[in-house]
Amino acid sequence: MPVPYSRLTAQQAEDEVKELYDRYEAFKSRGVKLDMSRGKPSPKQLDLAGNLYETLSAGFTAAAGADTRNYGELAGISEMKEIFSAMLGVPADGIIVGGASSLNLMYDTISRAVTHGLPGSAKPWKDYDKIRFLCPSPGYDRHFAVTEHFGFELVSVPMTEHGPDMDAVAWHAASDERVKGIWCVPVYSNPTGAIYSDEVIAQLANMKCAASDFTIMWDNAYGVHHLYGHAPQQANILDLCTDAGHPERVIEFCSTSKITYAGAGVSCLAGSPGTVKAALASMKYQTIGYDKINMLAHARFLGSMDNLRAHMEKHAAILRPRFETVDRVLTEELGGLNIASWTKPLGGYFINLVIQKNKASRVIRMCADANVTLTGAGAAFPYGKDPDDSNIRIAPSYPELEELETATRLLSVCVKLASLEKQLA
Ligand SMILES: Cc1ncc(COP(=O)(O)O)c(C=O)c1O
Repeated sequence: MPVPYSRLTAQQAEDEVKELYDRYEAFKSRGVKLDMSRGKPSPKQLDLAGNLYETLSAGFTAAAGADTRNYGELAGISEMKEIFSAMLGVPADGIIVGGASSLNLMYDTISRAVTHGLPGSAKPWKDYDKIRFLCPSPGYDRHFAVTEHFGFELVSVPMTEHGPDMDAVAWHAASDERVKGIWCVPVYSNPTGAIYSDEVIAQLANMKCAASDFTIMWDNAYGVHHLYGHAPQQANILDLCTDAGHPERVIEFCSTSKITYAGAGVSCLAGSPGTVKAALASMKYQTIGYDKINMLAHARFLGSMDNLRAHMEKHAAILRPRFETVDRVLTEELGGLNIASWTKPLGGYFINLVIQKNKASRVIRMCADANVTLTGAGAAFPYGKDPDDSNIRIAPSYPELEELETATRLLSVCVKLASLEKQLA
């Protein structure tokens, strides 16, 4: 049984530090270079979409007769809308199929709100002295960066295992009409893997907001990315917002970045008829239409929800051992020491490790000195600042299993050293 570090005698702590430094130096001298910083699919996962473009040998004509090589169909082709419709539980006429990045659609949505306003806006957001946006933290750094880029004030609200802390969210939303929205990743949230509960979803849909155009940026990036085949049943937020009388409160997003090719798939914006109409009214100035050839290839390759599920099981078969390796090594190295806790997500792309306060930057630097790259300290918090400096995001998808084991051991050694340095001090 491991002894919690707080109970080690001074001599035991000193011996442990010596042994850990030896392990750290031995790792460094091996000169291996590893990267666990970003949630990128591994080459093996990308290979799963190997025959994606072969489907185009059947021709370029979409089901409704459009020649996908030509202009037209601003909202995308119907067969790809059907697939996103089934993925999100939004009617097909509530779907716009976009280009290769859902983040791009999210950025454009915020940009539109700033310059022209959204349905329900009293005025464009640029006409307020300040816009505030709620950022459940830890969360996805690129979400926070979009709203920071437009000069919004980022308001951190705590993330729980069932979604954002709704007392904090409801208080902010009701208190100030300049609080214009919230970022949400409802399934296998980045980075904690949290799954929003139906209670949280109902509260988001029904809460009183000071702003008539309060917008829930509902990024369902990991909605079909289950590690154990089991899809969480979740209340339908668009239906709940519609029932509550403000169907435009939620705008949904997703993409095939982690289904087929990352940054080279197709994306989706979904919402009420009013949301879709308003988005198209401004999109038409941005583009004559997104890449329909890629939509057609994707629609043919993915085929149906059953096929899509079978395809995602192949991803899971590659990802599951990686997640389990990280969990096993963290358990072997850190279990019982009372210096760290970590998530065991049922899907998505990340494991979130929480260590002692004021240690995360130090640990990430020690890892970097040994050529193991982790996501920067604080990245999962607004302005890149983790108030506790205790959060470390682990992205297990890309490295091979053996590398992952090595990198996780090194990370664990650094976490232990950082904890003991405190005790020795
Ligand atoms: C929550 C979340 N949303 C969006 C993205 C990026 O999506 P896309 O490639 O469609 O722009 C990521 C990528 O890591 C993500 O984690």
